Amino acid sequence: MKAIIGVVGAGTMGAGIAQVAAQAGHSVVLTDTNPDQLQRAEQQIVKSLDKLVEKGKFSFEQAEAIKASLTYSSQLSDHSAASLVIEAIVEKLDIKHQLFAQLEQTVGPNCILASNTSSLSIASIGACLKDASRFLGIHFFNPATIMPLVEVIPGVATSHEYTNQIEQLISSWHKTVVVCKDTPGFIVNRVARPFYGEALRIYEEGLADFATIDWAMTEIGGFKMGPFTLMDYIGNDINYTVTETVFAAFYYDPRFKPSFTQKRHMEAGFLGRKTNRGFYDYKEGSSQPTPTKDPILGKLIFERILVLLINEAADALFMQVASPNAVDLAMTKGVNYPKGLLAWADELGAEWVLDKLETLFSEYGEDRYRPNPLLRRKVREQSKFIL
Ligand SMILES: NC(=O)c1ccc[n+]([C@@H]2O[C@H](COP(=O)([O-])OP(=O)(O)OC[C@H]3O[C@@H](n4cnc5c(N)ncnc54)[C@H](O)[C@@H]3O)[C@@H](O)[C@H]2O)c1
Repeated sequence: MKAIIGVVGAGTMGAGIAQVAAQAGHSVVLTDTNPDQLQRAEQQIVKSLDKLVEKGKFSFEQAEAIKASLTYSSQLSDHSAASLVIEAIVEKLDIKHQLFAQLEQTVGPNCILASNTSSLSIASIGACLKDASRFLGIHFFNPATIMPLVEVIPGVATSHEYTNQIEQLISSWHKTVVVCKDTPGFIVNRVARPFYGEALRIYEEGLADFATIDWAMTEIGGFKMGPFTLMDYIGNDINYTVTETVFAAFYYDPRFKPSFTQKRHMEAGFLGRKTNRGFYDYKEGSSQPTPTKDPILGKLIFERILVLLINEAADALFMQVASPNAVDLAMTKGVNYPKGLLAWADELGAEWVLDKLETLFSEYGEDRYRPNPLLRRKVREQSKFIL
């Protein structure tokens, strides 16, 4: 069904979400308090649609119709006819509260309101609304036009009916939708933590350098990018902040403990590609370190990171954050993992995974390596995660 969709915030995420909704055939109103940002968003969307015409994804006429279905405005009142408004403004609770309080007075009683927040709870944002039953999280990944995954997150007050409506609507936008609980990091930003955290830990212990860890994860593990290359892409400031936020939100569970190495890189301004220097040097003419291609060390690195990732996926399932299929889809479609982690555990055998974790746990005696009870149950029952 074609509808009027509102997007508030025309930055990195808002512009992409607006384009996705317009490409799905909706009339879209994109608002931002900053007129320059609106102009930039329009230029970016036009350029992206022109490229899609060149690639043959749309005809010229289709792309022109999509462009015409988008309206850019600095007036929040222009969302009055919307049936869904997605917020993608700055990640600050008080500013989001101000916006939603105003928005609630602008839109009709059946308009669904959503936030694209990465790190705030849906319950905390929705608390400012008179009717929070129509409020939920719709979490797109960056870039929203390309990444297929969308996490849909009902809060404690959200009605099932609205959640189902949104699940169907966003699926019709050619996205893979996973529904998950309103818990820190939702699925992807929680389950992916060891990819970075354990890689940093292995480096800090002096077991291997950045290049060797990246080599192990790509060449042996089959991941598209190694953890240090990926952190440099994301930005050490952003990636560190997500880790710190998830750590605090989990009441400082040691599993999520941030790393000094990453903090120091952030403090030094070694943010990654955007500053030409992160874990690697991106300045023109700089040489890249070569990995120690030791297959025994590589296997050790890969398996250590993998079992921690599987343990985290098992925990998300154990704590009912999402279904087994949703957990696996989230990691393959949201962060391009070569396999779903639970399917990977099934392939390797829960016993093998548990054995590796128990070895780490007995060696270090640290909570970060404690095996999840669900893993133990799978071993005991000789059952699989994915049925
Ligand atoms: N960048 C990512 O990779 C990513 C991924 C998923 C989710 N998110 C989430 O999406 C949201 C937006 O992130 P972003 O990276 O697009 O931010 P951004 O800084 O690129 O854009 C935010 C935009 O919101 C506008 N804005 C700020 N206050 C406003 C207000 N009161 N009313 C209207 N417009 C306002 C700003 O002018 C800016 O254009 C955040 O909640 C973030 O956590 C970001």
